[in-house]
Amino acid sequence: SATQLFEAVDTYINSLFAADDEILSRAVERARKAGLPEIQVSSGQGKLIYLLAKMIGAKRILEIGTLGGYSTVWLGRALPKDGELISVELDAAHVTVARETVKDAGLSEKVEIIEGRGLDEMRALEPSFDLVFLDANKDGYPAYLKQAKRLLRKGGLIVADNVVREGAVLEPSQVDPNAIGAAAFNQALASDPDLEAIVLQQVGIKGHDGLAIARVKD
Ligand code: DHB
Ligand code: MG
Repeated sequence: SATQLFEAVDTYINSLFAADDEILSRAVERARKAGLPEIQVSSGQGKLIYLLAKMIGAKRILEIGTLGGYSTVWLGRALPKDGELISVELDAAHVTVARETVKDAGLSEKVEIIEGRGLDEMRALEPSFDLVFLDANKDGYPAYLKQAKRLLRKGGLIVADNVVREGAVLEPSQVDPNAIGAAAFNQALASDPDLEAIVLQQVGIKGHDGLAIARVKD
């Protein structure tokens, strides 16, 4: 089927360009053993956010939704020696796993994991950041976007996971707050005069979803 082919090609790309090393494999295993939902970004998506951070020379990154710290390691590895990554996670059990993973990855100097609500923690931060990665509750995305704009420098990037939701954003059901949030977020991105943005539709081992990439205009 098409789905099987998409998954096979995704696996091919991931193993060619983004094979998990021992640290990332342990991160996945640690999260699984702790019973975390297995919804972290794929290795290829990790490589993409890593590359985006490197391409803009990011020194200060903010992540909303740490989960077990898998994407956190990818982003942390994109930073220079004096770089900084703040990652916010609501769930205390997730925070415990993520801190272990960050330590195992040798990134403790650069990465701070804050236990708290994404919006509250964003409100408490001060500019400026180079990149904000959104991967938390999708119903919060429109509010996160406003804060991300406040926190980012000109030329900075917003990257957001899960903005297609198997096409649910086309006609979001009233009972799917994630789809409603993602659709509102996409609309806000598209119509914001301060941003230039695109959504990449993605198919593969994470099903059918999408990644938004937006740049704060100069
Ligand atoms: C879900 C959340 C994610 O961040 C993801 O990448 C996949 C699924 C979810 O909440 O279902
Ligand atoms: Mg996600």
